[in-house]
Amino acid sequence: MKQIETAVQPWLLTPGPINTSMSVKQEMLHDWGSWDDDFKVLTKIVCDQLVRFVDDQDAFVCIPMQGSGTFAVEATLGTLIDPNSNSLVLINGAYGQRMTKILDYMGRRYVTLDKGDYEPPRGEEVAGILEQNPDIDQVLVVHCETSSGILNPLAEIAEVVERKGRRLIIDSMSAFGAVELNCKTARFDAVISSANKCFEGVPGFGFVLVRKTMLDECKGNAHSLSLDLYDQWQYLEKTGQWRFTPPTHIVAAFNQALKEHKEEGGIAGRFARYSRNQQRLVTGMRAIGFKTLLADQWLSPIIVTFFSPNHANFNFQRFYDLLKAHNFIIYPGKLTQAESFRVGCIGQLFDEQIDGLLEAMSAVLKEMNIPDGNPNR
Ligand SMILES: Cc1ncc(COP(=O)(O)O)c(C=O)c1O
Repeated sequence: MKQIETAVQPWLLTPGPINTSMSVKQEMLHDWGSWDDDFKVLTKIVCDQLVRFVDDQDAFVCIPMQGSGTFAVEATLGTLIDPNSNSLVLINGAYGQRMTKILDYMGRRYVTLDKGDYEPPRGEEVAGILEQNPDIDQVLVVHCETSSGILNPLAEIAEVVERKGRRLIIDSMSAFGAVELNCKTARFDAVISSANKCFEGVPGFGFVLVRKTMLDECKGNAHSLSLDLYDQWQYLEKTGQWRFTPPTHIVAAFNQALKEHKEEGGIAGRFARYSRNQQRLVTGMRAIGFKTLLADQWLSPIIVTFFSPNHANFNFQRFYDLLKAHNFIIYPGKLTQAESFRVGCIGQLFDEQIDGLLEAMSAVLKEMNIPDGNPNR
């Protein structure tokens, strides 16, 4: 069997799990009793801080959910959506599609606005569908569609959804913590994210920030015991505990990650560093011939999709393996039409790592005997 190399820390140019700081990792050396008051306090500290990012009026609550981000999305859709209602799902990539898959599993009704691999859903299109379908109660949207890296026009969509009197549920898995999302500037009812993206914690739980008035109406909606967000909330309110075994070490690491997020200047600070990473990356990649899928207007500071070079010697797996040999891990593309790959800008990445990746890219092209990254040869 192939040996696993753990002595050298790879740089993860991926959308999560991401590189975490040593101090975040170190927090996992302490063991916690899940029923113990210390852990209850820790959970409360974490949840209270998360709520403050979207709201300072106590209109929202934070409900953590064990598992990866998809568990939190599934818990949210299962709990917040009335089983008899209709939803509009905005799709421009894999994570919008995944929401429809979740709704299919649960047998919930929905209509879609599907813009293909990377076109943004626009406000006026959403308005048209809501006018034609008065039975739609909620709109589901992905904030940064991580499969292409596009930052969807959330303010525009939120404005329309509010004007039409519907609810808005946002999957902000890969953007929350680095892209501003505040209920004072855009109206929404729920935001879903997870520990291991822009807050730079380790993977193991997600969380949902929900408008209390919406949550109050959700008792009995859930299709699943373990994913019943309402019940998780009620139990937390009553006991201060998670219903089932919590990821104790991960919550402790996340608390440290939140401290470091604050020290970096909060959402604005993180946005600034990730944007710098993205600009340095895109400029450097363009200089060696690569082309981005998206025009600059739609590029997010989270992850960037590049077209693969159009050359007979190009093979993604070999490209990946050679970059890994230089200690950089990238992500395959998710486009249905063109060959592509993705490079993340989030996590403990700074100028040094981006410059290192760019050097490795040039070296790998040379090793593969490909003159440059040009996809249009
Ligand atoms: C926008 C978005 N939604 C949902 C998910 C699913 O999260 P997970 O893979 O942790 O289940 C991801 C993961 O990258 C994502 O980027």
